[in-house]
This record gives sequence, structure tokens and C-alpha cells, in this order.
Amino acid sequence: MSRIAVVPGSFDPVTLGHIDVIGRAAKIFDEVHVLVVHNPDKTALLPIAQRVSLIQQAVSEAGLTGNIHVTSWSVGLLVDYCTEVGASVIVKGIRSQVDVAYETPMAIVNRNLAGVETVFLLPDPGHAHVSSSLVRQVASLGGDVSPYVPKAVAAFLQQE
Ligand code: PNS
Repeated sequence: MSRIAVVPGSFDPVTLGHIDVIGRAAKIFDEVHVLVVHNPDKTALLPIAQRVSLIQQAVSEAGLTGNIHVTSWSVGLLVDYCTEVGASVIVKGIRSQVDVAYETPMAIVNRNLAGVETVFLLPDPGHAHVSSSLVRQVASLGGDVSPYVPKAVAAFLQQE
């Protein structure tokens, strides 16, 4: 039986930290679905379709094509998507204790809702300080975000 994992997130925009975690997940699981989900608690910068396109470009830029599928979900719970595609695992990247505190309640709720387990992966410590919100702020004030994001994202944000 092939093991499918979902890597969900806002990805607004995708960072090198996200790509690191996606690459690690792709080595562990047979199939990885990178899922862009709207987070109502966050004010969005990029439209969902743009985020999907940038992840697709970044995945290909990182040479990760093969078992990675990038899409979005807006019609219900994250676990509804997992059930629809037969995914038994959600993968999240953990940079610090703050992420553990943020992710743990969601992991338990997702398990209670549909029996979907969450696996936490540690990104390269070099990415520990990178977040989409920091990238959005630096980019909006005209700073250089190229150390933190895939080339496609840096190019896109530069032309905005
Ligand atoms: O990158 P983010 O914003 O931290 O990702 C959070 C996200 C989008 C994965 C989370 O908000 C989510 O799963 N939203 C979908 C709605 C849902 O299923 N909520 C219950 C999960 S506890």
C-alpha cells in the first residue's frame, strides 16, 4: 500500500524552510501532496492560485519533482482532503517550541476528527528563523528576501 502524506499550510509565500520540509517528506513517503489552505486567522498577501504556482516552480527548482503533487483546498476541513485522497499522515515542519505549541492542538484535533496522524519534521537549523510573515514584511518594505525564499518567489516579489 502506498503511503500518502499531506504537507498543508498557508505558504504565503513558500520559503526555503518549507521546501526543506517538503523534500524530507518526499524521501519518507511514497506520495506527498503539498496543500495550500486558506488560514482565516491570517491576512493574505498572495492569491491561492499564485501560491500554488510558486510552490510548483520552487519544487521543480529544487529538483524535487516525482512524487510531489501541489494543489489547494478550500471546501472544508484539512482532514476532508486527507480522506478524499487516502492520506493517513499530515506533515508539519517544527522550527522551535513556539511551533510545537501552535501545531500540537491542531494535530490532536485532526487525529480526533478523522484518525489522521501528524508527523513533525525538523528543518535544517539554517532555516529556523525563516517565516512567511517575516518574508512578507521585509518584501513589503523593499528589503532583499532572496536568502529566505526560492528563486521563483524572490523574482515574483521583486516585480510586485
Ligand atoms: O501555514 P499555516 O497558516 O500555519 O497553516 C495552518 C493551516 C492552514 C494548515 C490550518 O489553519 C488548517 O488546517 N486549516 C484548515 C481548516 C481545518 O481543517 N481546521 C481544523 C484543523 S485544527
